[in-house]
Amino acid sequence: MTDAHPTEATDAGDVTDTTGTAATARPGDTPAAADADERQTASKPRKNGLYRGVSDELAELMKTGWADTELRDLAPLEQAPYAAKRRAALSARFPGERLVIPAGNLRTRSNDTEYPFRASTEYVHLTGDQTQDAVLHFEPRAAGGHDVTAYLLPRSDRENGEFWLDGQGELWVGRRHSLGEAERLLGIACRDVRAFAEELAALPAAPTRVVRGHDAGVEAAVAELPSRAEGDAAPERDAELKVFLSELRLVKDDWELGQLQNAVDSTVRGFEDVVRVLDRAVATSERYIEGTFNLRARVEGNDVGYGTIAASGPNACTLHWVRNDGPVRPGDLLLLDAGVETTTLYTADVTRTLPVSGTFTAVQRRVYDAVFDAQEAGIAAVRPGAPYRAFHDAAQRVLAERLVEWGLLDGPVERVLELGLQRRYTLHGTGHMLGLDVHDCAVARTETYVDGELLPGMVLTVEPGLYFQPDDLTVPEELRGIGVRIEDDVVVTADGCRVMSDGLPRRAEDVERWMAGLR
Ligand code: GLY
Ligand code: MN
Ligand code: MN
Repeated sequence: MTDAHPTEATDAGDVTDTTGTAATARPGDTPAAADADERQTASKPRKNGLYRGVSDELAELMKTGWADTELRDLAPLEQAPYAAKRRAALSARFPGERLVIPAGNLRTRSNDTEYPFRASTEYVHLTGDQTQDAVLHFEPRAAGGHDVTAYLLPRSDRENGEFWLDGQGELWVGRRHSLGEAERLLGIACRDVRAFAEELAALPAAPTRVVRGHDAGVEAAVAELPSRAEGDAAPERDAELKVFLSELRLVKDDWELGQLQNAVDSTVRGFEDVVRVLDRAVATSERYIEGTFNLRARVEGNDVGYGTIAASGPNACTLHWVRNDGPVRPGDLLLLDAGVETTTLYTADVTRTLPVSGTFTAVQRRVYDAVFDAQEAGIAAVRPGAPYRAFHDAAQRVLAERLVEWGLLDGPVERVLELGLQRRYTLHGTGHMLGLDVHDCAVARTETYVDGELLPGMVLTVEPGLYFQPDDLTVPEELRGIGVRIEDDVVVTADGCRVMSDGLPRRAEDVERWMAGLR
């Protein structure tokens, strides 16, 4: 068989050259790097082996005959006014400074295949947008405040053929928003991200901070700025920006609380799905549970907010068991720790420990009730003005009391707590902030987070657990291989807290009744 265009270029790189296709340069590329990119990695022109050459006639044919699909009456995103307030807070915190917040890049899985993209939490929080390679830029104004620009990859150009010849062309990956559409949706001035590095370099000198860790190209472009060479580049200065953005997420606004409730409600439905198919899981493996929950997450949300933990029997004693390749036995307890992430990227984080048979054995019930009591004590300690640590301390005290009562630890309880001995069997902290990240606000300062006070609008998990490892000779044989965690998502209210995940039962007898009703 002969090639349709045997005299034409046979290399995809040449194809782009022949047709003058501008490859998708990444923000921060120098012109030279962009050239190299065009021939190598980032543009990733598709080669399917059949259509390797492009005649001038075909190139011409592809340019025209396309309808104008510009969306001129787009309403702003629901979250746009909330994101604007966050940007105003950021602007006020860093007067006179240039701030650069990248969304991050696609990561290659192999060749021209990428991992699913998830925009950086900082970028999403400040824009509501999730576009790969995007950069949010705050330019200080002489008169005070900042000019804010979102640098985005616009719609693919039809003239130069990139829409069908470039690996990130719209014909391959789907329609993007035009810059005008993005401006209407986000309420932010938008510019072409391919011009970012050049425009940045042309700006007057200003102290600059960048959120590191998301986009090496953007960081390299920032590193070229004269101010960076003059001591501006101290890692602590960039870290301060990231810390501020982490703390900006500690208290959720009303829109975020709605998103988190949506995430939790989908998660409740995902747990119900799992209970309905437990017999299929017994016939297969924990993977059936993971797949069932994750189906709900993909249908109703963006994805799961973290790797689903579907841990049956002794696997429940492995805290982050995500292999999920073990058997599910009728006498087991199933520990399912899972959360749906909404399309706006807010995640739930919920755990239930369920008897696969539908009924707890006496010994399972004893452990379950201890964890339940600890969780009750923890939830009761969540209220505005309480020290953050109070709910952890309250739950740990209950666990320590039971461990002493059962003869697993020598009392008194105060001594156990002081030395932290209960941790042999409970291992982890009792909870964490929840939001766009499952472990949200992770770089907030100690004084504002773990040593801080709870405020209305904070959302956190309360998730005590007890884990008796299968090879732990310090516990009676009947306890070995039992792991129980109960995890709920709670929001601090004006006078206490509300359990957002109360759509799922927690008390052992309620769990049994609920399971019987679903099977
Ligand atoms: N799913 C992880 C956690 O509970 O923190
Ligand atoms: Mn969890
Ligand atoms: Mn958690």
